[in-house]
Amino acid sequence: MKRRVEPEWLDELPAEDPRAVGSRRDLTRINRIMGNVGILGRLIGDATAGRPPRRVVELGAGDGRLLLELARRLAPRWPGVSVGLLDRREAVRPETRAAFGALGWTVEVITADVFDWLERPEAQTDILVANLFLHHFQPGSLAELLALAARRTKLLAVCEPRRSAVALAASRLLGCIGCNDVTRHDAVVSVRAGFVGTELSGLWPVGPEWRLREEGARLFSHAFVAVRADGI
Ligand SMILES: C[S@@+](CC[C@H](N)C(=O)[O-])C[C@H]1O[C@@H](n2cnc3c(N)ncnc32)[C@H](O)[C@@H]1O
Repeated sequence: MKRRVEPEWLDELPAEDPRAVGSRRDLTRINRIMGNVGILGRLIGDATAGRPPRRVVELGAGDGRLLLELARRLAPRWPGVSVGLLDRREAVRPETRAAFGALGWTVEVITADVFDWLERPEAQTDILVANLFLHHFQPGSLAELLALAARRTKLLAVCEPRRSAVALAASRLLGCIGCNDVTRHDAVVSVRAGFVGTELSGLWPVGPEWRLREEGARLFSHAFVAVRADGI
């Protein structure tokens, strides 16, 4: 399947639109079905060898619930982490902020375009996470984004849709579990824009200071990690 990037409806809707709110709720269930929290947890655990970061930022974080689930797994070993939730739309609910606080993690909601933010000096961080986000971009923009990320972080952990017939078939069945029209549209578009093989490694800025790993993960996901050879 040739990679095809098309606009997604969720990106166009205001955060408070009921269809957007419903679709973000659907994404929590889809992330669970895909197993993305577990995949990211394993990638980050392996790449850090358990060494705790000071700051973690998710790019395209949406309502922040994906990173909250990841934080719940990591917080017992990693106390006091500072979290940034970056998205063009401000969709993080007060109870999500409070839940990070209850884990002892501080949270900053960053409402910005990813390219603008990565240009800023304060974008410096130990770990960047991207979940169901990089597939939004054409190869040229994606190469630019990855080059900016490489300047700002010591570790990038990514979980994206896998561009496969199985994932495409599953994305067409999301109506069966009650997902709304926005989710059903965006899921099919996302799989067609997803990744296989070493497509992300091929766009990462080459350099001996980076160790890369890229692979299919579980049934529907594609995982990529870039970590500085000297660790985080
Ligand atoms: C499919 S959602 C994924 C949300 C979250 N990572 C999750 O797994 O639930 C993609 C998110 O990317 C955001 N987004 C799209 N383009 C963006 C950009 N250029 N800069 C920042 N955020 C962007 C959208 O607003 C949306 O919340």
